Amino acid sequence: MSDKLFIFDTTLRDGEQVPGCQLNTVEKIQVAKALEALGVDVIEAGFPISSPGDFNSVIEISKAVTWPTICALTRAVQKDIDVAADALKFAKHKRIHTGIGTSDSHIKYKFNSNREEIIERAVAAVKYARRYVDDVEFYAEDAGRTDNEYLARVVEAVIKAGATVVNIPDTTGYCLPNEYGAKIKYLMEHVSGIERAILSTHCHNDLGMATANTMAGVLNGARQVEVTINGIGERAGNTSLEEVAMIIKCHKDIEIETNINTQKIYPTSRMVSSLMNMPVQPNKAIVGRNAFAHSSGIHQDGVLKNVQTYEIIDPHDVGIDDNSIVLTARSGRAALKNRLQILGVDLEQDQLDKVYEAFLKLADKKKDINDDDILVLAGADRTQN
Ligand code: KIV
Ligand code: ZN
Repeated sequence: MSDKLFIFDTTLRDGEQVPGCQLNTVEKIQVAKALEALGVDVIEAGFPISSPGDFNSVIEISKAVTWPTICALTRAVQKDIDVAADALKFAKHKRIHTGIGTSDSHIKYKFNSNREEIIERAVAAVKYARRYVDDVEFYAEDAGRTDNEYLARVVEAVIKAGATVVNIPDTTGYCLPNEYGAKIKYLMEHVSGIERAILSTHCHNDLGMATANTMAGVLNGARQVEVTINGIGERAGNTSLEEVAMIIKCHKDIEIETNINTQKIYPTSRMVSSLMNMPVQPNKAIVGRNAFAHSSGIHQDGVLKNVQTYEIIDPHDVGIDDNSIVLTARSGRAALKNRLQILGVDLEQDQLDKVYEAFLKLADKKKDINDDDILVLAGADRTQN
């Protein structure tokens, strides 16, 4: 039987911290409902103590959403936890996400503290949060740069204090996949009581390794991943939900399942991109404009003979209906014929040759040839009918 991988979406917390991406409460509810329909298990709805807007959004999202757990972020500070618990009062399933920095640089420069005191503060925060909710997640900020032996002590202590999920963030996006995977493995093997909690990945993309690190964590025992739609987030962003969901779907050999309805991926990506005013790069995996666009003649010919030649994902599986063949100067006759057939035009070979010649001339001048151009070339211009 496959293991379940919990999808924790932080688009509305870590994602929304991006300058220029701020949403109002109505827009946040729209995103939260889309995330619910997508099938995410946990929605991190905000950091309630940070602003009245965040507080209010957590309240309204808690009322609007039924199935996912609603999570609120706090520092390891009692006042934060009181406010988060208050903001979560209408949530049907609720979680407080509390934590503290555990790397030497965080301990020294952020907290002017020492390792033992940090463990005490972590334990106190978890115990305090447990007074309000049964589901408490602890984050060890900058765990990516925290040495494994000390990290294991922190994780063991917070599980003993009642943490149900322990988040191991690579806050600075520094780790290599083998290093991050080894960190999760070390914790799985050295923390006593680990079976009582779920380890969670939370990876940043500063070196372009967020998804690789997340998968390394999963392959070594993490069973929750913290992700955002389109990978938005601080600096270079967070692990993108759509990439992890499709890796899990494509690689049945991993024997892990998610609850994601993958056909809702593309519409959700479009919605978040337009509400947040954050364009998706054209070559972004899974949801970029070119993610399924075959433009070279050799690839187009192969795909038309059998999609398996160059496609590992059926675009319909992520909710894309468009034709994926882009007609350019490098397209062959087969691609042109196929497009014409889709447009309802069937040509004899000699007619096709003539249209193809005209097409190549036009394609040399114009980057993308659209359907109207093709119909004009084939003498079947819709405007003439
Ligand atoms: O990147 C990080 O460490 C975080 C924590 C607050 C969970 O976002
Ligand atoms: Zn983060």
